[in-house]
Amino acid sequence: MCGIVGYIGTRTAYDVLVKGLHRLEYRGYDSAGVAMISPEGKLNVYKTQGKVEDLERFCDSKDTAGTIGIAHTRWATHGEPNDINAHPHMAPGGRIALVHNGTIENYGVLREALEREGRVFRSETDTEVLVQLIEYIKETSGCSTLDAVREALREVVGAYAIAVVDLDNPGTLIGARKSSPLVIGLGEEETFLASDATPIVEYTDKVVYLNDDEIAIISRSEPLKIITTDNQPSQIDIKTLRMSVSELEKGGYPHFMLKEIFEQPRTINDCVRGRIGNSGSQVTLSGVIENKDKFLNARRIVIVACGTSWHAGLIGKRLLQEIGRIPVEVEYASEFRYSNPILDERDIVIAISQSGETADTLAAIQMAKERGAFVYGVCNVVGSSIARATDSGTYIHVGPEIGVASTKAFTGQVTVLAMLALAVGSIKGTIDKQVKADVVKGLRNLPSLITKTLKLNDQIERLSATYTYAKNFLYLGRGYNFPAALEGALKLKEISYIHAEGYPAAEMKHGPIALIDRELPTVVIAPDDEMHEKIISNIQQVKARGGSVIAVITKGDETIREIADHVLEIPQVPECLSAIITSIPLQLLAYHIAIKKGCDVDMPRNLAKSVTVE
Ligand code: G6P
Repeated sequence: MCGIVGYIGTRTAYDVLVKGLHRLEYRGYDSAGVAMISPEGKLNVYKTQGKVEDLERFCDSKDTAGTIGIAHTRWATHGEPNDINAHPHMAPGGRIALVHNGTIENYGVLREALEREGRVFRSETDTEVLVQLIEYIKETSGCSTLDAVREALREVVGAYAIAVVDLDNPGTLIGARKSSPLVIGLGEEETFLASDATPIVEYTDKVVYLNDDEIAIISRSEPLKIITTDNQPSQIDIKTLRMSVSELEKGGYPHFMLKEIFEQPRTINDCVRGRIGNSGSQVTLSGVIENKDKFLNARRIVIVACGTSWHAGLIGKRLLQEIGRIPVEVEYASEFRYSNPILDERDIVIAISQSGETADTLAAIQMAKERGAFVYGVCNVVGSSIARATDSGTYIHVGPEIGVASTKAFTGQVTVLAMLALAVGSIKGTIDKQVKADVVKGLRNLPSLITKTLKLNDQIERLSATYTYAKNFLYLGRGYNFPAALEGALKLKEISYIHAEGYPAAEMKHGPIALIDRELPTVVIAPDDEMHEKIISNIQQVKARGGSVIAVITKGDETIREIADHVLEIPQVPECLSAIITSIPLQLLAYHIAIKKGCDVDMPRNLAKSVTVE
């Protein structure tokens, strides 16, 4: 994780950098820093533990002049979050400053070698090793900073996106990437560099996504140049951004998370638009049409993902199996990549990722490709590393998700997986015509069903006050709603720090039932579906042991209303789409409990939105 921003142009770099850091704060927020070259030719580096606003306070009375600079917001991997470990890191000579996102795996060996040469380190970070190595190469060989950067990058093992400024070249910014993202924004007489396009979008819509092993030389006086670490020239492929500044702001909501929860009628509409029509039951996914034979002949599908995306994957498994009649496995990408999986060209791997940058998912894709599997991506961020690494795919198109707890991306992912299952079921002829028509109609109705469900907000806000005391929560669901239970529990623990466990409702009697007492609230997801009768008895089992139950039910379900302590009523929805609707009251419940507990829901402790390290 960590966010990087760089700027060179005619504006005050500090202003662009700090604004950019705020946009990237979702990537990490335990310390932040900036480095600018002043008009007098001084390299000013300021950094501090804490959030970007702490950095701004720290810089209040400092010399922040200059039109070239780099900046960083950190999520600690090597070395605790403190002022010294914060980026930018300067080489001891005081002429080179560097920011880094990623992990230098062989930093220990490199550090020892540099220490043997008499170099002294100030921080515990892997990043300082890189900047010291650059300075060392430059000093010992007399080469340019660019060549020293190139040489140093050839020696490091691991992942990096870096930005470098140095006093010997005050008109040049250097950026480089391997497995961590870096985007260049091309403006009029100014160029931007950032971990994603959000710090760039208000200045220009022309961007270049750097590829692995590429180095960008961004000069004040010359056009952008990109070379490889082998010193070969690279093509410059300029893309046009489709993103607006308003999507990156809170739009009157107190938190991004709440804004993103309330955006879901629109985001789901954007997600299905052009893929299902206003009438009929046609589902058009170009990724499936173009690769029809792959889906027709697939022996099995393996879904790889992390976190919330993995939960969406569990729902995708059920959808693809039930509708597409293909065997599906769902794997944590971090486990899959080290499991020596049996895969070949008969298999399809579906990688699900909101950010498109998760390191473990990316590594799983690389392994799948090496073994010959066809890799299909379900991503949100257009042009992200995963979107580019996959053979084909479907974007969820829900717009930038900034709240660290994923909400609208989850419902978008499940929606795309439902469309994928329908598209596959159609080409394979495994779906009944009427069922297909009903599910497509359900997809079309989702935005209005979500709007109705969001009306629960006030009720959930009041209800949340009752439960701030809880130290633990149990979430139960069955079928399509077992993953919704996992996701509901994850939301609560991520932002309120209350321990929560999701369980298949029937499995509760094999363990978690022992935990039930007056102190343990249980959230039961119990819409009116095939499992309804069974889940009623699960609720009764909880009640019989003195537990309190919050039940998510279909409107008008009097049976559960009678036995549960609280009910949250949702509209009727086809069973295979129900998790999209049931997850919404759970998002709101987590949000309001966390707010009542005084937690920072958009930046929960220890978490980051995009996990670009192992
Ligand atoms: C982090 C985020 C989660 C996300 C997971 C996977 O843990 O905090 O919200 O679900 O990474 O991220 P991805 O971008 O691959 O979906």
